[in-house]
Amino acid sequence: MARIGMLTGGGDCPGLNAVIRAVVRKGLMDGHTVFGYHYGWAGVLAAEGRELTQASTNGILPRGGTILGSSRTNPFSEGGPGIDGVRAGLERHGVDVLVPIGGEDTLGVAARLAEAGIPVVGVPKTIDNDLKGTDYTFGFQTAVQIATDAIDRLHTTAESHNRVMVLEVMGRHAGFIAAHAGMAGGGDVILVPERPFGIEEVCGHLRRRHALGHTFSIVVVSEGATLKEGSLSTAGAGQIDAFGHERLGGIAVTLEREIEERTGYETRMTILGHVQRGGTPTAFDRVLATRFGVAAAEAVTAGSSGVMVALHGTDIVQVPISEALGEPKTLDDKFFADAAVFFG
Ligand code: F6P
Repeated sequence: MARIGMLTGGGDCPGLNAVIRAVVRKGLMDGHTVFGYHYGWAGVLAAEGRELTQASTNGILPRGGTILGSSRTNPFSEGGPGIDGVRAGLERHGVDVLVPIGGEDTLGVAARLAEAGIPVVGVPKTIDNDLKGTDYTFGFQTAVQIATDAIDRLHTTAESHNRVMVLEVMGRHAGFIAAHAGMAGGGDVILVPERPFGIEEVCGHLRRRHALGHTFSIVVVSEGATLKEGSLSTAGAGQIDAFGHERLGGIAVTLEREIEERTGYETRMTILGHVQRGGTPTAFDRVLATRFGVAAAEAVTAGSSGVMVALHGTDIVQVPISEALGEPKTLDDKFFADAAVFFG
């Protein structure tokens, strides 16, 4: 029987609480105990957290965010305490196996710990769906639904005012949210990080739509999309804010300005931002998160280490954590072509 230490690292996303609940319930059923570290690796290093029980995880299934809190602390970052700091945090609470729930950074730490002999079972998480090794991550589908709702709402106001509406959605390295929501909401232009775009191509397309009789257009853009022309300023993009985070909004600001100036069509932008990460998960994400949590507890019971649970097709499997690391997963060409096929 193991003492599981669980943590949530990186940006939060809907479904984290469903994973926590499933790990606790299945873990307790299998005879384990579960300690929840607060605020990701920061909690491990400070040895701070609390015992997780059936009672303390009641009612959290539909709740967004994470009851454990999250942070982007990395024990291996420059000046960090490294593996000794992690070992101390585990020993303090008698933890003998870790279940970190997180993205590339969190899982990168997990892989290093596993290599050093600390038992680890990872759970992949990102709203952007750009982690390799799994077909989908929980939270992504919720974000797509929120972005689709926003596109639907923008359609009615765009139509009333004959405007071009630019919607910026999350996706630093990959355009999964933009392509899926753009397809579901009928976006007229979809711009993603995988394909740098020309501003004149976009404007040309909008002019053709107007020539065909359309009086408004919806442009869906990933926050990480870039212009082919290096000369245009994308004010805000890539700038680091007071907390050391990259600012959202650069590309939407640029598109609003350039489209209006070049076409003469009145243009407005909306930055959806962290609304996409908040609130209750969809049923799909609750199911996926619960299956991941159950599978993680089962992997602990089986004595697995250095693995992460993953979705392959409709099956939950275990893959080496290393599969999730390195370059992000990017949009499939055919999927993007399908999303764009109705433009016009
Ligand atoms: O990686 C997930 C993500 O939501 C990105 O889409 C976004 O760029 C980033 O996190 C925002 O991070 P933060 O919440 O730290 O500002």
